[in-house]
Amino acid sequence: MEFKISPSILASDYANLERELKSISNSDLIHIDVMDGHFVPNITIGAPVIKALKKVCNIPFDVHLMISNPIDYIDDFASAGADIICFHTESNSDIEKTVDKILSLGKKAALAVKPKTDIGVVLPYLDKLSMVLVMTVEPGFGGQSFMEEVMPKIEKIREINKEIDIEVDGGINEETVKIASRAGANVFVAGSSVFKSEVPNEMITLLRNNAEL
Ligand code: DX5
Ligand code: ZN
Repeated sequence: MEFKISPSILASDYANLERELKSISNSDLIHIDVMDGHFVPNITIGAPVIKALKKVCNIPFDVHLMISNPIDYIDDFASAGADIICFHTESNSDIEKTVDKILSLGKKAALAVKPKTDIGVVLPYLDKLSMVLVMTVEPGFGGQSFMEEVMPKIEKIREINKEIDIEVDGGINEETVKIASRAGANVFVAGSSVFKSEVPNEMITLLRNNAEL
């Protein structure tokens, strides 16, 4: 199982995104949180910013859509340069059609579940998905505390599928990364812990090492 760190640029300095991306050159993925102020009570960035960032960064983009009607925006995010497109099972788009749309554009598809959502909803789609994102905070904001009670959902998917990437998102730091890894997660989103660190690249290495413990 390959362990990957996906720093969330939500916690970075939006006035200096190119510089911030250079500071996380050790990362495996770049996690980009897209929020629409409707599916979640916060607004962040959209496809035009992703398109601009793609020109200055070679690390694959892990785009986390926290938006309503995701199916209507898959084309935009695919052409902007998203490599993995992740949307929420709780959104109002048909899951199968949205996954198929992502795959038809040659991108990797991922499904996300909020902390209170039963993990059973993702099971019918596992064969088509590259990754399942299990939220360990309520989506919408960075800097919240890791919800350990979500771990059984990760254990359940890992029991069923040994190969699929399982991503955890919310409150990941050098301690909680170990808990999530023991449960079976192998992709770790980290916003505040990486960008509040003096040397983000060193924090990425520490997180990866701790996940492998
Ligand atoms: C929350 C976002 C997360 C967030 C994580 O809705 O999906 O990706 O940026 O931030 P931290 O690591 O600070 O909890
Ligand atoms: Zn996220």
